[in-house]
Amino acid sequence: MNLPASSRLQFTPDLNICRVLNGMWQVSGAHGRIDPKRAIQSMFKYMDAGFTTWDLADHYGPAEDFIGEFRRQLIDTRGKEALSNLQAFTKWVPRPTRMTKQLVQQNIDISLKRMGVETLDLMQFHWWEYGDKNYLDALKYMSELQEEGKIKHLALTNFDTEHLKIITEAGIKIVSNQVQFSLIDRRPEVNMVPFCSEHNIKLFTYGTLCGGLLSERYLGQPEPRGGELSTASLRKYKNMIDAWGGWSLLQELLSVLKQIADKHAVSIPNVAVRYILDKPAVAGVIVGAKLGVAEHLEDNARVFDGKLDTEDDRNIDAVLSQSRNLYQLIGDCGDEYRR
Ligand SMILES: NC(=O)c1ccc[n+]([C@@H]2O[C@H](COP(=O)([O-])OP(=O)(O)OC[C@H]3O[C@@H](n4cnc5c(N)ncnc54)[C@H](OP(=O)(O)O)[C@@H]3O)[C@@H](O)[C@H]2O)c1
Repeated sequence: MNLPASSRLQFTPDLNICRVLNGMWQVSGAHGRIDPKRAIQSMFKYMDAGFTTWDLADHYGPAEDFIGEFRRQLIDTRGKEALSNLQAFTKWVPRPTRMTKQLVQQNIDISLKRMGVETLDLMQFHWWEYGDKNYLDALKYMSELQEEGKIKHLALTNFDTEHLKIITEAGIKIVSNQVQFSLIDRRPEVNMVPFCSEHNIKLFTYGTLCGGLLSERYLGQPEPRGGELSTASLRKYKNMIDAWGGWSLLQELLSVLKQIADKHAVSIPNVAVRYILDKPAVAGVIVGAKLGVAEHLEDNARVFDGKLDTEDDRNIDAVLSQSRNLYQLIGDCGDEYRR
């Protein structure tokens, strides 16, 4: 399998990425058991198929260590040059507290060590509490570490538009923000997408498949109850679907997506990902990968096969227009983490 050129994006002058990123929350333990050996073997398959860009975090269990081990095995089996087409985007999610250069540096150094790199490709910073303004100090110190060569690019995750604006106005150069964005959760369209488009900031999206709920597996199925939602991801997005419009509206959406998918000879997940990939400011969609357990490589490769047309958009809109407004219910991007 070889992904087409349209799968690639020159994200920054020095980072050429795959627009479907491999999400590593799925190896954290909250989505079932992962066998490290099989997981690393599976990372080779992703890489060889063209899915070369990984999204991870300091708190996704062994994710940073997997990158470190994968890099070591790449060097051993293919030589150092094999690393040139690997991009690994991590996050730092500290508990809000007073920030010192030493504290920030210590945490960045941990990620560098675990991932076995001298420079982090992208550091996506999360902050839990806007009332605590120490996030600006954390970012200032990270900018210094960037100048010192420990970080290539600074980014955010789950920041709302108001605070993204505060940060950019403080003179901190942010290249991307990672937010929930899907057919179900279109909150970014209200403020985030326009702001990012205007300021040349990119978006990486998660929840775009709602943990798998936006797939053939749930089409025509009865509403799953507590225990049947077997991963943290499914539980998270089932709550979102309940707030959005509930199971019967989801079924309406899935059957429209199925018709569109059949028309283009692709799958429901392909349509769900394509819909978000084509939104302004979106650099890439992160699709969770249960490494060594479940693989959707061939199917997800088909997302690059075609585009949705105006008839598809009209049919999707006819369902989405019946949903509740999540921006009014929850607020801007990331507000669900700060209530
Ligand atoms: N910044 C944040 O706060 C944040 C929050 C959540 C997630 N994330 C990032 O986003 C990533 C994505 O996670 P997510 O929770 O949002 O999950 P998701 O990507 O919406 O769903 C992933 C699941 O969808 C299913 N799937 C994928 N491709 C499929 C296909 N072609 N056909 C059928 N099913 C398919 C798989 O389920 P099975 O494995 O069961 O087959 C997979 O585990 C995470 O790994 C993480 O990197 C970030």
